[in-house]
Order: sequence, then C-alpha cells, then structure tokens
Amino acid sequence: MKVLARHAAGKALQNDNLEIANRAKEAKKIDSAVINATSGMFFHEGNVFRGFRTVEKILNELPDEDFYAYSPSDGGARFREAVLNWVFGFYREEIEHGNAVRVVATPGGTGAIHASVFLGLDRGEKLIFPDLCWAPYYGMAANLGLNTATFGFFSGEGFNFKGLQATAEKVASEQGKLALIINDPCNNPTGYTLSEAELREIVTFLNTLIQPVLLIYDIAYLDFADNNARRCFKILSGLNENILTAVAFSASKTFSVYGQRLGALIIMGRSEKAVSEFYDAAKFTARHTWSNANRGLINLLITLDEDSFLKRDFLSELNGVKEIIGKRAKIFMEEAEKAKLLVHPYRSGFFVTLPVRDVHGALKALAEEEKIYLLPVSGSVRLALSAISEAETRGLAARLKKALTPFQ
Ligand SMILES: Cc1ncc(COP(=O)(O)O)c(C=O)c1O
Repeated sequence: MKVLARHAAGKALQNDNLEIANRAKEAKKIDSAVINATSGMFFHEGNVFRGFRTVEKILNELPDEDFYAYSPSDGGARFREAVLNWVFGFYREEIEHGNAVRVVATPGGTGAIHASVFLGLDRGEKLIFPDLCWAPYYGMAANLGLNTATFGFFSGEGFNFKGLQATAEKVASEQGKLALIINDPCNNPTGYTLSEAELREIVTFLNTLIQPVLLIYDIAYLDFADNNARRCFKILSGLNENILTAVAFSASKTFSVYGQRLGALIIMGRSEKAVSEFYDAAKFTARHTWSNANRGLINLLITLDEDSFLKRDFLSELNGVKEIIGKRAKIFMEEAEKAKLLVHPYRSGFFVTLPVRDVHGALKALAEEEKIYLLPVSGSVRLALSAISEAETRGLAARLKKALTPFQ
C-alpha cells in the first residue's frame, strides 16, 4: 500500500502553460524582440509590471492588526458590504429585493470556484462548461473526482446556446442535477462577453429545468468589461427557486494583486433556505480548508467601500488600464481584419483567441519563425493583450498571419 491516497494517485501538475510561459520569459530576457503574450497579468507599456498606486497607499497605511491578524472565515460583515457594493454596484438593492445573498471570502476566484464545485457536486457527478475555458476547471473536477462535459463555445459569431442547452438537458436528466460554469464578461480565453439577449436566453432556459441547478458565474474579468456589464447580475437575479448562483469574484485582476490571493463567493438565489445552507457549508469549508483569507486585501475592499475619494482615485487608475488594453485591442483587431487573420469574436478584456487546426504545431511555428509565444487552449491559441505593449501589438496580426497560415 502506498502513502499517497488512492484519490490522489496519478495527480501531477503537468501544465505545459507554465512551461511555455517560463520559456517565453527566458527567451525575452535574452532577446528583447521576443513577444511574450502568455501571461494572465496586466503589464504596463514597456512590459513593466506595477501595482496600482491607490492599492499600495491603502495597504501601506493599514494598522498592523488590519493587515496581519486573522480575518473571519467568511470575511466579516464589512467585507460582505464591500463586496456586494463592488460587484453588484447600482443593481444591488434590486437584486437583494427578490434574492437571498451571502458572501464568503476566498483565496482568489480560484477558491470561490473550487468551493462552489466541491459543495455543489458529489464524486462521480458531472460538471459542465464550454470547451474554450480556463484550464483549471478540468483540474478542479479531477481533484474532486468529478467528470466533465463540455460544449463548443461559439456558434458563428455568437454564443453556442444550443450546445449549452443540449449538454445541460442531458446531464440534468441523467444525474438529476446540473452544475454549470460560465466565465463572463470578458471570457478567458476569448475576450467574448455574452450579450444581454444571450444571457437572458440562458436564464430562460435554466428556468425551464425542474432539477436543482448550480450556476457558477466566474466574473474574474468583470472590471475590464463595459460600464454596463453589471446588468448581468440583474438578469441572473431572475433565476427560479431551484437554481443557486455562485458568483466567483476575483480581486487578482481588478486590483492587480495576483499573488496576494483574495476573492469572494457570492451565493445568491430566491430560496433563502438553499442559500443559507450553501453559505453555512461554504463557511465550514473555508474554515477547514484555508481557514481565512488575506486580511490586508479584505481591508483594501472595505476601505474602498467606505472612502469615496480613494475609490474615485482607484477607479481612475483602473480606467487608465482599461484604456491601455482597449487601445492594444483596437490596433490588433483592426490589423487582424486587414490581414484576414482568423480571430474568435472579441469584446474586451485581457485575451484574444485564434482558432488553429494544430495547436502545438502552431505554437512551435510562432515561437521558431516569429519569436512569438502564445498559450494553447482548446483548438486555439491564446494571445494576452494584457501582457504586450502597444509597440509590440503593431504589426503583430500580419506576423501571426504569416506563421499561422498553414494552421488556420
Ligand atoms: C477565468 C478565470 N477565472 C478565475 C481565475 C482565478 O483567479 P484568481 O484565483 O487569481 O482570483 C482566473 C485567473 O486567471 C481566470 O482566468
């Protein structure tokens, strides 16, 4: 008998993404002409990483206790206020009018998604999500002994609603329950954002299901979407009583604090009983898995919630970042159209994705012929606009076209 438990056997982080990203980083150190478009972090012009000044100011001014002490397992009442005000914004009152809402602080969006999946499904059950997705969904399912079912993300220029419907109906009727992850707005890896009509169609469909449904709505890139993106929560608040929404918020991207680890699981639904049961179990999981979340960042959110001047300063910095990404995206998409480069529909956010027939062949050709490093995703390669400068963006589409022509 082995020391390693049976459920852990064979699990190893074989993540070619990390390996490619490291290779790109090393190559860039030696040759500045290398384009490293692998990272899921925001870099300023000149490939410089820098935190937000307002975030730095708030964290530096926190009293020791507010930075170093333990925090409550769910983050506490002021954190709850801060998160709900931040995420739901203008729509908060309306959403809470017809829905029960609870919050648990988590280590990043990752912690919120992991806890949701763990609490929503039993071993052997199936988790569903689109094929173009954030790769750790697969690893989380594997780690929890779950199976996965995917559907194609796009149908033409829009979301593949029929694919979602067929997969969801099948899984719901087979296992008597459905757990579905949707990453929106500014989806990773595509940069696509569901239109209001598409989200309404999903809500209307889920409302036809009679089985219990857990919708895990991963909003890691919420703050890089259009200003009216928060309407999505109002739309989701129209889900029926048999449906719980687990909104997975990430502080990493919004505040550029990737390694500091804070997120929040917002549990919302019409059934007070179902929401409070899920919250109790989530808080229990938090206490007995990671204990408590990053106290300094919890207080960052609380300070921004309670100090409108600091919030204004932060939002102005964040808008600056959005503008930079928007500028890179505009250049890239216009040049891609001119070059006739195939790109999946993009709206905003960190990434664009290019469909290719042979993912690894395409990545190899790009690195060898053009010194451009991208990451593999399902049937496509992902380019991080967040990580490259405007100067690197110019002319990039034509270079990609040249190297990718045999693969598209
Ligand atoms: C789609 C998506 N969801 C969730 C996360 C989790 O982010 P974090 O755990 O750093 O908050 C990421 C991070 O890259 C992501 O891309």
